[in-house]
Parts: sequence; structure tokens; C-alpha cells
Amino acid sequence: MAEPPTSSPAFDGRAFARHLADVSHAWTVAMEAADIDAVVVPAGNAGFYYQDDIAPPFRPNPGFAQWVPDDGTEHCLLVYRPGEKPRLFFHQEADYWHLPAAVPDWADAEFQVEVGGDADALAVAAIAAAARAGRVAYIGPPGDVPGNAERVAVNPDALTVRLQYARAYKTDFEIAAVRRATDIGVAGHLAARDAFFDGASELDIHFAYLNASRQTDAGLPYPNIVAQNEHAGVLHYQHRDPHPPSKRRSFLIDAGGRHLGYASDITRTYSARGDTFAELIDALDEKQRALIDGIRPGISYVELHERMSRSIGELLARFGLVRCEADTAFEAGITDVFFPHGLGHLLGLQTHDVGGWLAAPDGRVSPPPERYPALRLTRRVEPRQVFTIEPGIYFIPQLLGLAAKAPYAGEIAWPAVESFLPCGGIRVEDDVLVTDDGCENLTRPAFAFHRREPAEA
Ligand code: GLY
Ligand code: MN
Ligand code: MN
Repeated sequence: MAEPPTSSPAFDGRAFARHLADVSHAWTVAMEAADIDAVVVPAGNAGFYYQDDIAPPFRPNPGFAQWVPDDGTEHCLLVYRPGEKPRLFFHQEADYWHLPAAVPDWADAEFQVEVGGDADALAVAAIAAAARAGRVAYIGPPGDVPGNAERVAVNPDALTVRLQYARAYKTDFEIAAVRRATDIGVAGHLAARDAFFDGASELDIHFAYLNASRQTDAGLPYPNIVAQNEHAGVLHYQHRDPHPPSKRRSFLIDAGGRHLGYASDITRTYSARGDTFAELIDALDEKQRALIDGIRPGISYVELHERMSRSIGELLARFGLVRCEADTAFEAGITDVFFPHGLGHLLGLQTHDVGGWLAAPDGRVSPPPERYPALRLTRRVEPRQVFTIEPGIYFIPQLLGLAAKAPYAGEIAWPAVESFLPCGGIRVEDDVLVTDDGCENLTRPAFAFHRREPAEA
């Protein structure tokens, strides 16, 4: 933990070998249940913008990246048949316009590697290799299916849901990658915080984040949210104002790190001064830590969301934002006006990792309760899951406008609410790993280490 992002840790080949053994096992179990004998898993390709010869940054199919954790894999394919060494069809084209991709030096130990320069021929060869016998499934972007795949099942539900369900349980290698992604993100966060207090613009804070975390925009797990003042009330605020605000009040930064394809997803909010908004940030921070302290395997994530909604009701009452009791604020739905998103989501190769609503490996879905349509995770909490806990309290004009017309409008203390509008909102987001008897907060110790402060309990 807590390597500075400027150092590049050696690839842990032994941990990767164990990871691949676990991945092979999970895929074998899923394939047997779905009656599939072999899979072809393409990394995919970015494709050009419309009528252009420029492509967006490439991001591999996560089903492929689980096997081959490397971004330099455009047009590569993996073929897996249980009991055999996986085959990696590696695309390496002679190209003097670009630097050709290199086979990662850890690949030969784990895969039977076949290098080819023609992407279409490589895909045809992968299908042919998989189709030697039995039922074959193709797990990847359906638009890329090669012409010789007519007897191949493309993303059959019976298999994809099982793979998605299983991806929630992280291997040690994956957990180590998320830890590293956390260190990278935290280094950026601390620099961003300093830039904010130095009076920087959103754009310059963003650059400070990239520089300190040694990431490019394209390498980020998701676009940074760098929001000052009212912008903090836009949940996924996407701009970077190049000018510092005339009055600096608040700062919300939601930004992560990425390592070997695995993401961290971290949010902190700051007040420019020691005012009531700062107290509200601290109070939400405390509620978030208390909730995390209570996470145990077996609890439903929906229950965690509901507990947090009740806690937010308490804060609304404590800070005079409602005229009613905390319980009434929760029961009337007032808390949803201030906390309109879900408590969190699974995290891994995708920032919003798949499978959050799956109740069982066979694809049974447990949708969120009607009251919380934005909740991305409804699963029972189980060891080896990694997910975020990210409560928020926001002052969003659009939602407050609707609330003003709701039956409970008279319960909202409007002058107090309006006094917070210029600060936008608060989100506190940590990533947690569920253990056999509780959970580990992956984010807080990294902040403590980088600040050289003792880790919080
Ligand atoms: N960064 C997006 C999210 O927190 O879900
Ligand atoms: Mn998140
Ligand atoms: Mn986030």
C-alpha cells in the first residue's frame, strides 16, 4: 500500500498466475452451467469518430481485461477452453505511423501466444481455434463478430450473467490492483485539495490532479469531477472552468486512479472556510465512516442505503434544513431530495462494475426499490466484493424546485436550504473491501499514509 504513483511496481507474476487460476475456475463453472465448451473473448477496438481518422481512447472489453490486464491490446482476442492453456491472439501490426503493441512480458508464461498483424484474420483464427469442437460463445462487443462465427453464440445470457455475477468477487491480484489505483488517486486528491486552497481554477486543479497522480485524461478510470461552488451540486459536473471563481466557497472532487485496468473511485468535499458548510461536511463524513464500520457480510446493500438515508434525515434536522423530525424527513421522502443518487456501486475493471442488481448466478435480478431507482447495487454484501460508499447531501435547484411543489414542502426550512445553494453539495466517497467478518476501508488509510498521519481506526 501507499507506493507513490511515480514508482512503477513490478508486475507480480505469481499473484497473476493465482488470479488466472481463479478466473479460469469462475469461467469454467459459468461455462458448464451455460453448456458452453469454449469462449472467444475479444479485447475490442475503439473505432474512429464519424467520418474521421481519429479514434477515442481505447478501453478493452472488461471480460478480456480480466484475463489480460493491459490496455495495449486493441484487436487482440483470448480463446479459453477448460483444461487447456488459454490462447492469446495478439495483434501486432507493422505500422510506422504508430508504435506497434508489444506482447506483455508476463504473457508467455500464462498464455499460448499467437501474434498476427491482420486484425480480421486474427479474429477468424481465434474463432476457428475455439470452434474445433462443441458449443462456442463470443463474449464481447457484438458489432465485431467475425464472418466465420455463424455457429457461435454471441453473448448468450446464460453465460454473461454468470460471468457478471462472479466478477463481484475479487481475487487477491485484483484487490492489490485496486489498492494501487487508490494510492494513485489519493496522490492526485491531495494535490487537488492544495490547489483549491491556493485559489486555483477548476482547470488548474484538474491539471494538479493529473500531474500528481501521473495520469493522462485518457488513462483516468472516469472523467474527473472537479466542481467549485454551485457546480458541486451537479452530480456528474463535466466542465473545468479555466477561471478561478470570484468567491471561493466549496470544492467537490470525484476522481480516481487506474492500475492494470482496475479503478479507484474517490470523492472529497471541502469548504473554503470553517463555516456551517464545513460542519455539514464533517457530519456527513462521520455518518459515512459509521456506516462503513457497520458493514458485515450478509447485510443487504439496500439496507445500507436506507440506513444512510435515515442518517441524512438526522443531519437535515440537526442543521435546521427541515422543520420536522429526522424520521419524518426520511419517511416523507425529503431525504431523497438532498440525496438523489444511490449509496454506491461495485468497483473493479469498470468504475460502475457490472452485476450490481444480480441476485443469483443464474441471472435473477433484484431491482432497486421503487423509491431508490438510482441505486446501482442491491446485492447481499459478501466477502471479496469491492464497492463504494458515497453518500451525498446536495442543494440542487431542479430538485428543490420540485420539492417546493411536493406535499412535504412546508417541512423544508427554505431559508436555511437557500443559504447552502452557493456551496452546491457534498459527497464523501470511499472504496471498501468486504472481509470474512467485516470490511476494510481501502481509501482512508491511503489518505493517512500520503499525509503521513496515523491511520484512522
Ligand atoms: N465517479 C462516479 C461515481 O462516483 O459513481
Ligand atoms: Mn462512485
Ligand atoms: Mn465517484
